Amino acid sequence: MLKSKDLLGLRDITAEEITEILDLAESYKRQVKAGDKKFSDLKGKTLVTLFYENSTRTRTSFELAGKYLGAHEVNISASSSSVQKGETLIDTGKTLDALQTDFIAIRHPMAGAPHLLGKTVRASVLNGGDGMNEHPTQALLDMLTMRETFGSLTGLKVAIMGDIKHSRVAKSNLFGLSKMGAEVWVYAPRTLIPAGFDELGAHIARSREEAIDSANVVMGLRIQLERQSGGLFPSLSEYSQFYGVKDNMLKLAAPNAIIMHPGPVNRGIELTPSLIDGEQSRIEDQVTSGLSVRMAALKLLCEYREKNGL
Ligand code: CP
Repeated sequence: MLKSKDLLGLRDITAEEITEILDLAESYKRQVKAGDKKFSDLKGKTLVTLFYENSTRTRTSFELAGKYLGAHEVNISASSSSVQKGETLIDTGKTLDALQTDFIAIRHPMAGAPHLLGKTVRASVLNGGDGMNEHPTQALLDMLTMRETFGSLTGLKVAIMGDIKHSRVAKSNLFGLSKMGAEVWVYAPRTLIPAGFDELGAHIARSREEAIDSANVVMGLRIQLERQSGGLFPSLSEYSQFYGVKDNMLKLAAPNAIIMHPGPVNRGIELTPSLIDGEQSRIEDQVTSGLSVRMAALKLLCEYREKNGL
């Protein structure tokens, strides 16, 4: 049983809650892959996806998760909502509550926006990415793909390479993987590693080789040009040359290592196209995991709501 009405981040969630979500997600994944897309776990409930930033994977998989579980599902994008007329997030939340919404999946450019919404509304809020803070369902789906590949997360070495500073995915993975007994290594230009990341439990590698050495997972992160205020590295081509993961580096990793990336990928910058499309890549499986993790999160929050009379 989850301990909160909302799923806002992995900083404050327990290893037991993570395991419960992954166990249920694994079961949904098996069933959906076998062609079963008609469940009634959320029958009669309403899910609203409220996205103030662009998304392909997260928004689509939240929408499909709601539909597969039998919920009514509506999408609101900021560009076509009353946000454009100056409506606040809290007033938008009150409007959705008045419409008897049960779940709101939100992506917002400001860190903490889902937390503010969660405090204000009766509905359960699921964080689909808030600024540079967290992206909990992404880290959960990453952990599901890793756990399915290796059987357990305990003892894995996960090397995360790329724009750590602006990455909510890196933070959620660090919180989640550390709780599950994995070791997280990061490598990037120092300007792309946030201060205090080591105090949160990350190992800061001094070279690409040190990060990748014996790693079970090599995860590239997108260089987020839209979040950079400028001057954090000289150019994309230099980034790729000195910090990108190249084909020949995979031989340093553990023999059965996998390549991951949350997407969208800058092909040839964080990872070479042959790593992205190669047989060790799990990038497509991550997307499949995303659907079942979001189904599991919705179902478990639904159980919390029923138990607590919400
Ligand atoms: N990984 C991820 O958040 O992708 P989208 O931006 O497409 O949702």
